[in-house]
Amino acid sequence: MQQPKIWLSLAHMSGREMDFIKEAFDTNWVVPLGPNVDGFERDLSEYLGGSRHVVALSSGTAALHLGLILLGAGKADEVICQSFTFSASANPISYVGATPVFVDSEPDTWNMDPDLLEEAIRDRIRVTGKKPKAIIPVHLYGMPANMERIQKIAARYEIPILEDAAEALGAEYRGQKCGTLGEMACLSFNGNKMITTSGGGALVCRTREEAEMAKFYATQARDQAPHYQHSKIGYNYRMSNICAGIGRGQMTVLQDHVDRRREIHAYYHDALLGMPGITLLTNPTDEYRSNHWLTCVLVDPAVAGYTREDLRLAMDAANIETRPLWKPMHLQPVFADAPYYGNGVSESLFDKGLCLPSSPVLSEADLERVVEVFRDRL
Ligand SMILES: Cc1ncc(COP(=O)(O)O)c(C=O)c1O
Repeated sequence: MQQPKIWLSLAHMSGREMDFIKEAFDTNWVVPLGPNVDGFERDLSEYLGGSRHVVALSSGTAALHLGLILLGAGKADEVICQSFTFSASANPISYVGATPVFVDSEPDTWNMDPDLLEEAIRDRIRVTGKKPKAIIPVHLYGMPANMERIQKIAARYEIPILEDAAEALGAEYRGQKCGTLGEMACLSFNGNKMITTSGGGALVCRTREEAEMAKFYATQARDQAPHYQHSKIGYNYRMSNICAGIGRGQMTVLQDHVDRRREIHAYYHDALLGMPGITLLTNPTDEYRSNHWLTCVLVDPAVAGYTREDLRLAMDAANIETRPLWKPMHLQPVFADAPYYGNGVSESLFDKGLCLPSSPVLSEADLERVVEVFRDRL
């Protein structure tokens, strides 16, 4: 008989969510604003260290879109983006009519390579005569990017950083939370993330003025007037008070989720240690503290004797969901014409990498089932 399915990354409810939702219904706050939205933004700001202003939105993608608008990116601009990521990091660049410029990854963090970033900035200035409008590094799979070097380069050329921290809530770099390391940042609360609001996101801003401007654009850019008047194009991007209620409940277990995903990574790390041809994405130094949203392995077929695809199919046969690493943006047909500064790292990661089940609800027996596939089924 087939064993129950083990999923890649499932939501886990604290049990408090319904209290916040019920309160919203009882008080008739069933709208895209209200006490849960305010409370969720406050909780997130506190969790991030208290120095940032958080705006709850309908998705992480919406957050990146508004971030780019606030940074003034538009037609005839270029925006530098990490190539090794999910398409939602790059799509908003096209929404504002700008051109994405893709930069490859470094082998340690799998995130934006600072040397290539600087090469790309210099070359774009040479080719177009102007600076890129923003830099979007991604903390992929919860691993912080090499922010010290990226911040230095961004400061040298005076280009703002829009962090994509969609996968990195709870991760830290040099003791500081991801999401507070750039001018602005996006968070995601999609169903498979560290916490969920069923679907949702947030823009993290440095100043209150930026946060107010984000709220303005997120609520159809309505001017101050008794009638409806608009001087800018607006969006309907605000989070509903119901979704924010789920978020408030989820905040009560966020740190538990981070701790559990780190435990799961440690379990895989110990169990797979010494297995020929298998390596894990791990914190390169003490300065990095990944939330280990997903534990990722690389399979070197020359040593392991099997490929990443063999591993994925063996997991599938054991009723275990896994997923290849993100296919880099410079290889995506939709971005075929975009400039790219590369070194082959992300292509190799895509060839060799697989994400393992990492939900906080996984039991030791579930984890053992995954490890058993490596040991006995290949
Ligand atoms: C790296 C990355 N950026 C952006 C997003 C977009 O977030 P959302 O799905 O909330 O729009 C996601 C997740 O979906 C993501 O993984």
